[in-house]
Amino acid sequence: MNQYYQEMYWPEIPDELAQELINYTNSATNIIGNYGVPQKLSAWWMKNLHKIDPKSIPRLEHFEGPDSLKEWVKNNLPVPDDYEIKIQKFSNLSETSPIHIDAMRKFSYNYLLAPGKAKTNWFDNEFNMVESVQYKHKVWYRHTSDILHNVTEGEPIRIAVTLFKQVEAWKEFTDI
Ligand SMILES: [Fe+2]
Repeated sequence: MNQYYQEMYWPEIPDELAQELINYTNSATNIIGNYGVPQKLSAWWMKNLHKIDPKSIPRLEHFEGPDSLKEWVKNNLPVPDDYEIKIQKFSNLSETSPIHIDAMRKFSYNYLLAPGKAKTNWFDNEFNMVESVQYKHKVWYRHTSDILHNVTEGEPIRIAVTLFKQVEAWKEFTDI
């Protein structure tokens, strides 16, 4: 078994629902923010702590999944009831995203809503790349995110369904 990612052989999301989710995401306003950090704080963080123009770096936004997606997941996938059902949208992915570990989850089940050529890469603690994959459209993957990773060589916009369990410490942090 690959410790970085695994294909899940779960059912495909019907095309009609996938299109609805893309439209929903492109018009959604309930942005949760970069990695769950509120958008304004994250922009401040990039600008003042990292001295990076927030507009120039790839951005990851999460949106609460609509009821149609939640219903479909409940009826079609063996995912526990306490999982988050969200949509994530990367922007600016033609540049390299920061190498990071997700603070709010150890892994997620992800499904790309449109084809893309982006690569997901993992690194050891010396930042040497140890694995790389091009996730395929219409395939569910278990994506490990508590090992250093990033996404490169992407399109300007990349939208995926993401299912995961939030780690307890993160829940407490965001409840404040
Ligand atoms: Fe990540």
